[in-house]
Amino acid sequence: MLREFVTAVQAHPGTTIAILGIAAALAWAGLVWHKASRELKLPFLRFEDGDDSRQRYITDSGTLFKVGYEKYLRYGQAFKMRNYIDELPPQVYLPLKYLDEVKSAPQAKLSFPYFSLLLSINRPADWQSVNPYPIFSYIIARLAAKTTGSAELSRNDEWLGIMISVTQTSMGAAHALRASWPWWTRWLARYVFPPVKKVLADRARAAEILRPILEERVATLHADDGKTERPNDGIQWLVEYYHARGRGALLTPDLLAQNQLFYAMAAIHSSTAILLSVLYDLIDERHEHIKAELIDEIQQVHKEFGSWSRQAVSKLVKLDSFMKESQRIHYVGHARVTRAAKVPYTFKDGLHLPEGTMIQFLHSGPLRDADFFEDPETFDPWRFLKKRQEGDPNKFQFASLSDVETTFGAGFHACPARNYASDVMKLVLVYLLTKYDIKYDSDTQRRPPEMAHDSATMPSLATQILYRDKSVSRGQPTASTA
Ligand code: HEM
Repeated sequence: MLREFVTAVQAHPGTTIAILGIAAALAWAGLVWHKASRELKLPFLRFEDGDDSRQRYITDSGTLFKVGYEKYLRYGQAFKMRNYIDELPPQVYLPLKYLDEVKSAPQAKLSFPYFSLLLSINRPADWQSVNPYPIFSYIIARLAAKTTGSAELSRNDEWLGIMISVTQTSMGAAHALRASWPWWTRWLARYVFPPVKKVLADRARAAEILRPILEERVATLHADDGKTERPNDGIQWLVEYYHARGRGALLTPDLLAQNQLFYAMAAIHSSTAILLSVLYDLIDERHEHIKAELIDEIQQVHKEFGSWSRQAVSKLVKLDSFMKESQRIHYVGHARVTRAAKVPYTFKDGLHLPEGTMIQFLHSGPLRDADFFEDPETFDPWRFLKKRQEGDPNKFQFASLSDVETTFGAGFHACPARNYASDVMKLVLVYLLTKYDIKYDSDTQRRPPEMAHDSATMPSLATQILYRDKSVSRGQPTASTA
């Protein structure tokens, strides 16, 4: 037997090494999984009706989250469930009582899991059909490119195309890999799976586009004559950050591309999804009277300020409340504050997380919980405005953070761009509400059902809307407020 094995190894050394490598990796992963599962002394939440398949987690996780919230989280009890992302240790959902501890835990222990990796709108007099999703992606990408990249990048359509393509392709690739690639095969994806290859090709091209910009910025940094005004944008912040620490050589075009594309993903996906979702509520026939009040508010504020300064935007309190209520009912994504235990971690009450455990909080749970929101199933557009008027006017805003306001995360890694993102979305909505009549291009004038994929939820991306120049609608002159 041993002799046959040795002969086989001698005949096919490459294949044998590969098989032994895979077997060792599987054995190692099995050990990690077994150890982590045993150490995680928590109830295991699974589908109990006979179908606990992987596919079920992809299409129907929302049902399980509801059960987990009602059965465990509401009562301060954490639970674990299948980790459909990598099938290694189970993922853990924590009740809100742990949020403060997670927020203040050192980064070396509970860390943010970093993943490696149009159009100008015309003014038609007649109704025109359009899919708003690519238009919103383009607008958000352009603004994000200007802030997190540079002014020249925001005018470069190839660059904007890469930002959008990487955001969309990597989300699609991640969903496909989770759905049908066992974790131990995923290392192959970069060689054979077209979406992953596309993301890598985009990243390489992004680095090429960035190379001359980076070289110029570094040259200006070194030849500083005290007269040249330095740009104030994301690339400059990174260049200065690295050089101030004596690590300028580390900032290669490829690393800069990785950073820029991470910002693109952070900026484009969430802003576009939320903007789309709010638009769907705005043009829903059940909210016709609300839309009129919002347009009225926009006109009042514009009259008072004359332009859309940050101060003016902050006066759009009804719009802010409407957007927040829209996200309360039609939230984008179930989970927030995802962290990975870099070392074994024990909470004050003794709950122990083995190294590598992924934890998160169920953002969607409290949003429909009567303990937190009165009459939670009713869409009340002024719910948060009333809270501001009755309590603290600086709280309960779209970009506010609290234990039950986790749209933008919590603690150290909470979205640094939340106020910017909130203002950008408001400006786009002001523009649309004042320049255009908009309705659904379908028989029904109600918002389309949400899309769901494991813990992700999204507004429909395929919905067509009709729009036309507002000045042609009877009795309404063009508003010149945007
Ligand atoms: C409505 C739009 C947005 C939403 C809902 C959103 C939400 C989030 C969330 C939930 C996190 C993780 C927070 C945590 O785990 O505690 C995050 C992080 C981040 N967001 Fe946003 N975001 C939005 C827009 C943007 C924009 C426009 C940018 C950039 C221009 C941006 C840049 C970032 C960055 C860089 C991080 C990582 C922060 C860190 O690692 O410390 N986001 N965002």
